[in-house]
Amino acid sequence: MPTQAEVDALKAKYAAAQQEHVFTFYDSLSPEEQAVLYNQLSKLDVDRVNRIYKKAVSGLESSTTNLSISPLPDDCFDSVLDAAESKQKEWESIGLKSISENKVAVILMAGGQGTRLGSSAPKGCYDIGLPSHKSLFQLQAERILRLQKIAKDSTGTQGEVIIPWYVMTSGPTRAATEGFFQSNGYFGLKQENVIIFEQGTLPAFTNEGKIFLETKSKLAVAPDGNGGIYAALRYENVLTDLASRGILYVHAYCVDNCLVRVADPVFIGYSISKNADCSAKVVRKAYPEEPVGVIALRNGKFNVVEYSEFDPTLAALTKANGQLEYGAANIANHFYTVDFLKSVERFEGELEYHIARKKIKHVDLTTGELQSPIKPNGMKMELFVFDVFPFTERMAVLEVDRKDEFSPLKNAPGTGIDDPDTSKRDIMNQHLRFVEKVGGKVVAGDGETQDSLTLEISPLVSYAGEGLEKLKGKTVRTPAVIDTVSDIEKVIIS
Ligand code: UTP
Repeated sequence: MPTQAEVDALKAKYAAAQQEHVFTFYDSLSPEEQAVLYNQLSKLDVDRVNRIYKKAVSGLESSTTNLSISPLPDDCFDSVLDAAESKQKEWESIGLKSISENKVAVILMAGGQGTRLGSSAPKGCYDIGLPSHKSLFQLQAERILRLQKIAKDSTGTQGEVIIPWYVMTSGPTRAATEGFFQSNGYFGLKQENVIIFEQGTLPAFTNEGKIFLETKSKLAVAPDGNGGIYAALRYENVLTDLASRGILYVHAYCVDNCLVRVADPVFIGYSISKNADCSAKVVRKAYPEEPVGVIALRNGKFNVVEYSEFDPTLAALTKANGQLEYGAANIANHFYTVDFLKSVERFEGELEYHIARKKIKHVDLTTGELQSPIKPNGMKMELFVFDVFPFTERMAVLEVDRKDEFSPLKNAPGTGIDDPDTSKRDIMNQHLRFVEKVGGKVVAGDGETQDSLTLEISPLVSYAGEGLEKLKGKTVRTPAVIDTVSDIEKVIIS
């Protein structure tokens, strides 16, 4: 319980910050509720959040023009769609060597609330309807397990190869995520190598810059966006843990991409060979009006330019090879050196938060009644993971094949776009290509047609198409599930 003097001091601080209304109901609360509110308010740096609000709002007012946008320099951009096979092998072996030396970790951004998907559980727990019913978390864990083995075997490493997995959660997703990992035995990974941490939150603001009270004794807060990763790595001691494990490179990605190549050795090796401090995977923008952000230069600095910022002529501009000049679609899939992650603290104050207009449940300060607005009534502030791009010194961008590496789960079942069905379809189509690539054939079994084949290959068997050589010249009949190496023989019919 705070003393009266402590409460008075805190009230004075909030009054100086013009946010004293958060004490409106304080005197009418029970001592327990008072303690809860006091605790929340005393932990919040109200001057910092006011600064964030002001900077975000002033950013909205300063418009950017097309004139400030320019294409990516050629020497910072490569594509696995064009690069020679030998070059890709070279990148892959550099990546595998680093992994085998235990210099690579992965950070998963899983703090979002997945409102569009509409599931009450964290998105990573979602079952996209594969025959195995594996969740997104399980698919990713198994890719890590497989890659540890590939790195160990391909380099002849004697000791254990470990790719530590740092899972960023948020207030709304932490407990459920921890529970899911525990009840699933960390999907075969060692618990000590799965580190679950939590990103920060920021209060929601009214359009006039006042902090919302969600109830009489609680501020309305929300996760501070996937760019909250940088501050969280520091105050959740992830940077210290990375250093103590001797990690030099990090792959960071979003939980909702069912095709994500976790710790992709090709991307890691590419980034190392470019001597990049940060790099980004992109996919080819499909058509000029596609509503995706692209990586380009803004005022000479790397940045993500939103589709709404392009005029149609600029968006349709093509290069000599016929591809879009601004075609590097951002998929929030990054490489960092640990040194770069440490350096973020130096320029953090310069990062500009983005405003998302939202419906914010709150208590009416006059009547004390709870309000559930039907239209956006205020704003949440978020930092995006790519907001650090302008501060990089040696950035590189690698284009990858969308059908092999990017299929996000965003929307509710039945939507038809980026939903559980498209995720499932894209994984099974990829597995079909894996079999065909080694010279196998897949035929439709009972109740299936050639364009809806049920074929699932566990990531424990194949990370990116390797390990399936036994299928060369063989025919597989669907539905077929290859869960272990010994299942390969079982699914062959001729
Ligand atoms: P999205 O912006 O698509 O948000 O996140 P979301 O929570 O998945 O879905 P909606 O918008 O509520 O429907 C892209 C990635 O960034 C992570 C998400 O977990 C996802 O991996 N993220 C987002 C965070 O880690 N923290 C955040 O505060 C927001």
